Amino acid sequence: MKVDVLLGLQWGDEGKGKVVDVLTPNYNVITRFQGGANAGHSLEFNNMKHVLHLIPSGIFHEQVINIIGNGVVLDPAIFKVEIDALKSKFGIDSTKRLHLAKKANLIIPTHKVLDGAMEQAKGKGKIGSTLKGIGPAYTDKIGRRALRVGDISLDNFEEKYQALKQQHLQLLKLYNYEFDLTELEKEWYEGIELIKQFTLIDAEHVINDYIKEDKSKILAEGAQGSLLDVDYGSYPFVTSSSTICAGACTGMGIAPSKIGQVKGIFKAYCTRVGSGPFPTELFDDDGQKLRDIGREYGSTTGRPRRCGWMDLVALKYSVMLNGVTELIMTKADVLDQFETIKIATAYKINGVEIDYFPYDIEGELEPVFKEFKGWKCDITCKTLENDLPKKLMEYIDFIETETGVPIKIISVGPDRDATVIRK
Ligand code: GDP
Ligand code: IMO
Ligand code: MG
Repeated sequence: MKVDVLLGLQWGDEGKGKVVDVLTPNYNVITRFQGGANAGHSLEFNNMKHVLHLIPSGIFHEQVINIIGNGVVLDPAIFKVEIDALKSKFGIDSTKRLHLAKKANLIIPTHKVLDGAMEQAKGKGKIGSTLKGIGPAYTDKIGRRALRVGDISLDNFEEKYQALKQQHLQLLKLYNYEFDLTELEKEWYEGIELIKQFTLIDAEHVINDYIKEDKSKILAEGAQGSLLDVDYGSYPFVTSSSTICAGACTGMGIAPSKIGQVKGIFKAYCTRVGSGPFPTELFDDDGQKLRDIGREYGSTTGRPRRCGWMDLVALKYSVMLNGVTELIMTKADVLDQFETIKIATAYKINGVEIDYFPYDIEGELEPVFKEFKGWKCDITCKTLENDLPKKLMEYIDFIETETGVPIKIISVGPDRDATVIRK
């Protein structure tokens, strides 16, 4: 059985956590394959909201195995906070449901300090990093000096840790940045002890064995979004991993031919948190309205998210990069009260219209909008396609026609149940 992949097509926060949770009953295995605790995936059910950062969003389903895959950068300190919260809030013993790839890289305390120091040094050009140490950790991975989860059981683990830490301390001398490692290291060592209680796996073998067993159904859960991809996103305002479908292959150790459905998820409008270009960004009342109704504040950092209209040029680019086979549209309900809804169908650069995502997305670029009449009714309690307003269906039809991909799921609220699954 092939691996289905669900990934964000915009700048992250498309509602991946919610939808993975909704889809989990159809799968036996949920695996993260890139990113780290920069992610914040929210799940809501039984009047409870919970945000996961490192743990795959299948963790609430008892019968499912969750895997933190090879491509993830794992912060033991945040891992412990998350595991403890699952235990205290929901009584979940994660050791039974969650396995960790030995080849996943470890974030160490000085990665987080370096992230802060480097961002500060960038001044106005800062990326708006979540400061979880992601960039420095992937830098060490590519630099071939990182620590990996599997190293924890080595006799010389402490020696390796100290050597990497010393390299970071040398580097930090270049920055005028104050820090104290005492508490960070304490939490990190506690996290390392907790990791020892988990099953550490050769994830590439385990996942490929699952693929061979016809009964196993695997869903790979992307983090961030395609427009934050280190190669194809709005560089340098991106994260440091491959957030696109190809990243699922390297992040899990599976061949491209083993990818099944590619489920691309997008909001009915756009948001972005952190710096960087955002062609359809709104600075007016409509932008504020989207932020207020959509509760657009970062799940990881609490920062207000920048809001704007749907960008079809960017969406088509993401569909192309990922080979999306089905689309999922979330937060349709946030548009319930809008008189007019807009979609950018092209950009104008120096008066010339283009319909592709250009190299210089940061330059003078003006979106060309198509307008739709709003449906002006509450759709949050709808669960059947036939009950959705005609004007919303027109909006959906347009996106399907333009992208050439069917929208299979429409999310109409944050709760697990506020979901319309189309036949
Ligand atoms: P992720 O990072 O892609 O998992 O998304 P986040 O959890 O960071 O952000 C999505 C936010 O929108 C969360 O607060 C969700 O609870 C919420 N959400 C998800 N789907 C919907 C929806 O269809 N409607 C509304 N109103 N909120 C939603
Ligand atoms: P989920 O999985 C939204 C953004 C940061 C910053 C840039 C680089 O919840 O969709 P990093 O900490 O990776 O060095 O930050 O990427 N960013 C996200 N934005 N959702 C996320 O994850 C993000 N993860 C990183 O805001 O602009
Ligand atoms: Mg998020």
